[in-house]
Amino acid sequence: MAAGALAERLRRHEARTRLRFITCGSVDDGKSTLIGRLLHDTNLLPDDQLAALERDSRRHGTQGERIDFALLVDGLAAEREQGITIDVAYRYFATPARSFIVADCPGHEQYTRNMATGASTADLAVVLVDARKGLLAQTRRHSHIVSMLGIRQVLLAVNKMDLVGYRQDRFEAIDGDYRRLAGRLGIADVQAIPLCALDGDNLCRRSAAMPWYPGPTLLEALEAAPARTARSDAPLRLPVQWVNRPDPEFRGLAGTVGAGTVAPGDEVVVLPAGRRTRVARVLASSGEVAAAVAGQAVTVVLADAVDASRGDLIAAAGDPPEVADQFAAHLLWMAEKPLYPGRRYWLSLGTRTATAQVTEIRHRIDIDTGAELAARHLELNGIASVRLSLDQPLPFEPYAVDPALGGFILVDREDHGTVAAGMIDFALRRAGNIHWQHLDVDRAARARLKGQQPRVLWFTGLSGAGKSTIANLVEKKLHARGFHTFILDGDNVRHGLNRDLGFTAADRVENVRRVAEVARLMTDAGLIVLVSFISPFRAERRLARERFPDGEFIEIHVKASLATAERRDSKGLYAKARAGLIPNFTGIDSPYEDPEAAELVLDTENEPAEALATRVVDHLLATLA
Ligand code: ADX
Repeated sequence: MAAGALAERLRRHEARTRLRFITCGSVDDGKSTLIGRLLHDTNLLPDDQLAALERDSRRHGTQGERIDFALLVDGLAAEREQGITIDVAYRYFATPARSFIVADCPGHEQYTRNMATGASTADLAVVLVDARKGLLAQTRRHSHIVSMLGIRQVLLAVNKMDLVGYRQDRFEAIDGDYRRLAGRLGIADVQAIPLCALDGDNLCRRSAAMPWYPGPTLLEALEAAPARTARSDAPLRLPVQWVNRPDPEFRGLAGTVGAGTVAPGDEVVVLPAGRRTRVARVLASSGEVAAAVAGQAVTVVLADAVDASRGDLIAAAGDPPEVADQFAAHLLWMAEKPLYPGRRYWLSLGTRTATAQVTEIRHRIDIDTGAELAARHLELNGIASVRLSLDQPLPFEPYAVDPALGGFILVDREDHGTVAAGMIDFALRRAGNIHWQHLDVDRAARARLKGQQPRVLWFTGLSGAGKSTIANLVEKKLHARGFHTFILDGDNVRHGLNRDLGFTAADRVENVRRVAEVARLMTDAGLIVLVSFISPFRAERRLARERFPDGEFIEIHVKASLATAERRDSKGLYAKARAGLIPNFTGIDSPYEDPEAAELVLDTENEPAEALATRVVDHLLATLA
């Protein structure tokens, strides 16, 4: 090969930057065809696959004698069967100018979560629209998520132009509609392209059928689009992935430089603890280096033996990120189980995990209109502006500044499923002003004066199971023995402290959260507290348990079958609930989740309340011994 040609190839190779993009569109917009075509026309397909494709097209295809490019795309069997694409599939292809990674996001409404997964690292989104239909609810939804995930470039692929007679006015109307939407969503860079993906028109080659369109083909536009560059000129951000300690002499902190550069001698701070030190050495895959930049995996040795571990962040001492435990954020809820404020979730941000709760849903966003609506809970695919409170401070950047340090997920503590993707907007300063007041008389001192150890007896069970009856008997027995006690009963507390709460799931979460806090204060006062609430959800009983030192919280399942509770119907509420007069009644149209690890289970169908109360007292006394 001539030296000139080789040099040219090398030059081109170096100039080749990678572009990551996502495709989104509705089920029938022709997305699979478009991607299949791109892969085919950029010649990535080996000949045997092409032959197979021609064969399959004739057999299963929907395009007559034409090749059905949709058949190329993975997950297709499922799509064919259900008419939807179900998972994010990453595909790689290249042209002489550039290489591409495309995350193909499914078109069906219910799979919005996959889109969030695919979109978080994308430089650009290709939004498909059917020229006959124009913008759909789905287009708005996807564009909203695109904008929320910080993507600022959209290629609007107006597909199936052949089915509207290649009409320029139709294309321009859709282009105009989309630009209005994009303007509202803060997507600054929109380029619309009229296409017929099936024939490849304006995809990889210019269309003879649309001479009125002067712009680039889709592939040309993809080749020209700017990619997000590694943030080497920003201040150093190096999340510690693991501590590399092969022998007692060497202690290296390994991770990938997220932003900035790192070099020996640099002053750094290790967050969240905030200790300052210097970088002593930087090791990359090639060995010791004079500096490393954003995107490089390194091991850093610090000058002092500061304590650092997985989840910590090494940052430029002169320009560190904020550290906070309360945030304003946006959430995309991705679980069937709704989000309830007050419930605990695990939050994972970069390499760090904390426990978090949404303290407030500021508003839910109606994706079709952009309207901000009041909400007490959030359902599958819901998007909301929320406030979050964490159990520990985390170093972070606003998502708009750095998606790696501002993007997080929430994970369900019961089933460990990912329930939300979130983006931090900014820190809330509230926590900074509130300190723990040191008090000389502490909980141990108060309890000592009463001559007892504080406990919580947490009675849970269906309405009518006998919680209040048994708790009342237990308190009488304890009182007679000289213990200082207090009963918190659902019916009573709902007349005062919790009189603003009803029986929706969101209200029950808050009802139980508040009573757990009150019980906590009462145990701090040295009391033995009896809590008698239905408390139907595992998550909140767990939350309550976690508010107390080990061994102080005693969960008592007051057990009766629904049939029994309903037969007793002491307050006549079941009859009303069955008649449809009381909505969200526990056991009828609101769930009761049985305790899995209660300290005591009381079988109220086979033992009298008096005997059960004695068992509770005996159990309690045993824990005090
Ligand atoms: S909890 O579910 O939030 O823990 P809580 O124990 O405070 O409930 O209140 C339950 C009491 O409220 C029941 O004993 C019953 O008397 C009354 N009640 C009124 N409406 C309902 C309802 N929809 N579901 C259950 N209990 C109800």
